[in-house]
Amino acid sequence: MAIKTVGVIGCGLMGSGIVQVSAQAGSPTVVVEADQALLDKGLDGLRKTLDGLVARAKLEARERDAILGRITGSTRLEDLKVCDLVVEAITENQPLKNEAFAKLDQICPPHTVLASNTSSCNITAMAAATKRPTQVLGLHFFNPVPLMKLVEVVRTILTDEGSVKAAREWVQAIGKVPVDVKDSTGFIVNRLLVPYLLEAIRVYESGLASLEDIDQAMKLGCGYPMGPFTLLDLVGLDTTMYVAEVMFDEFREARYAPPPLLKRMVMAGHLGRKSGRGFYDYGKK
Ligand code: 3HC
Repeated sequence: MAIKTVGVIGCGLMGSGIVQVSAQAGSPTVVVEADQALLDKGLDGLRKTLDGLVARAKLEARERDAILGRITGSTRLEDLKVCDLVVEAITENQPLKNEAFAKLDQICPPHTVLASNTSSCNITAMAAATKRPTQVLGLHFFNPVPLMKLVEVVRTILTDEGSVKAAREWVQAIGKVPVDVKDSTGFIVNRLLVPYLLEAIRVYESGLASLEDIDQAMKLGCGYPMGPFTLLDLVGLDTTMYVAEVMFDEFREARYAPPPLLKRMVMAGHLGRKSGRGFYDYGKK
């Protein structure tokens, strides 16, 4: 089954990136948000990104208009009934995701593959909320979506080969590289990345070195494109804490436990770039 029309639920940081890469690759793409204000905010951000690319001569104005022309925004889940693939990118909350999958199952035609961009929720539970568990899988994108080449294609013990094949082919068609992984909290990347980020916070809390020097050390010493604190601010401290908590809950291993400083920064509203302040100060939002 070839995927032509794509749906995305959620037009936040990840959702709007998925909409962009899908429409950029030529797919008619329907994006659904919970209300008009959130939809406008997400689509405005996407438009600004494309305008920026046009201003820097990375994209022709004609092509920008064509991409925008392929995107339909909506606040009604029912508008996803035309989609061959729907990627859910709502907030990381298991009950909300299960509920979204149960609704999608009723709205979408029988052939539609339902995917979640979750980084930490249980995809098997989302599959079990539908009457088509064999067509439910994970498609885990990375932030910033338009620039990061990887997509983890996550199969549960229920997912069938046909759905995995269709999803992998779509991932390749949008210019990304799929890797296969089983439904296990954190998949490949977060299983390795989260303990590293949390350890960086512990090292900083211990007074070993400054934020700037830890970042510099990992950039120049290991060739990472960003140091851990720049990356934490990009990913979002609330997102990192949530993922860490879910991983700690699953594995009960100390390396996944969110350090006290991370918890306090989230309580203080220092969430990273998106709030204007995280480990670094980004000025006014
Ligand atoms: N769409 C298309 N192209 C875009 C774009 C967009 N939205 N935004 C920028 N570009 C283009 C730019 O025009 C530029 O083009 P050019 O090379 O032709 O000039 C190119 O992309 C590179 O842009 P930048 O100069 O901004 O990029 P950098 O070279 O500074 O790299 C980075 C930025 C890719 C973010 C790099 O720093 C990086 O790889 N950082 C690490 C990010 C990372 O680890 N992400 C994973 C986070 S974990 C996660 O997401 C999992 C979750 O579950 C927690």
